[in-house]
Amino acid sequence: MKILYLGDIVGQPGRAFTRDVLRRIIPELQPDLIVANGENAAHGRGLTKKAAEELYDAGVEMITLGNHTFDQKDVLSILDEDERVVRPLNYPPGTPGQGFRICQVKGRSVLIVNLMGRAFLSQLDCPFRAADGILAQFPEIKHILVDMHAEVTSEKVAMGWYLEGRVSAVVGTHTHVPTNDARVLPQGTAYITDLGMVGPRDGVLGVQREQVIYRLLTSRPSRFEVAEGPCQFCAVEMVLDDDTGRAQSIRSIIEEG
Ligand SMILES: [Fe+2]
Ligand SMILES: [Fe+2]
Repeated sequence: MKILYLGDIVGQPGRAFTRDVLRRIIPELQPDLIVANGENAAHGRGLTKKAAEELYDAGVEMITLGNHTFDQKDVLSILDEDERVVRPLNYPPGTPGQGFRICQVKGRSVLIVNLMGRAFLSQLDCPFRAADGILAQFPEIKHILVDMHAEVTSEKVAMGWYLEGRVSAVVGTHTHVPTNDARVLPQGTAYITDLGMVGPRDGVLGVQREQVIYRLLTSRPSRFEVAEGPCQFCAVEMVLDDDTGRAQSIRSIIEEG
């Protein structure tokens, strides 16, 4: 089972570049499932129905989220109804949407879980215990993908080891900067600390650089808008054993526009 997992897609430029790159690489790679982090897909902050539809049209089949989940009011129209959208699992009980979804790939159930770290982010419930809870709920599922959306590398590395041998993959998202540490951990879990983003390369994490520099220089609020110019596409390709769900390989795919 071959899976493509795309990092945070940023705004309209990111959505358009997702479409362009996927159009080119899908025939060549023939993935069985394409997942993307969509927390910045609408105007750089959050997800709307329109942005989600564009990603589905491009070939994305499942969308995970993060700390920007609730930035667009429109997301409420899809969080509960659209079974392809997953928000962080460790939000408090009663939060709209679901922290996990199950999809069918090659006749197998694939469990997709979104977790959010707590360092420099909202203080959600413990993502480690949340992961234990969901794994206990679905002991029969062997193909499990975890998007660990977190700011600090240590929290993501720790989650990789914590879930090693229990899930097929732990991929980090949120920082928009890809890390060079993709590998299969000894007990068969594919791991990368951060996928990176699909978005404008010459901004600051996809935001217009002048606006970010102004805020840093002046400590005054400034508008943050999605940057323009060439995009970067960051993803991983992972191959999982069809029967056991163990990862056989993971490699980064980085394309420049
Ligand atoms: Fe992000
Ligand atoms: Fe984020």
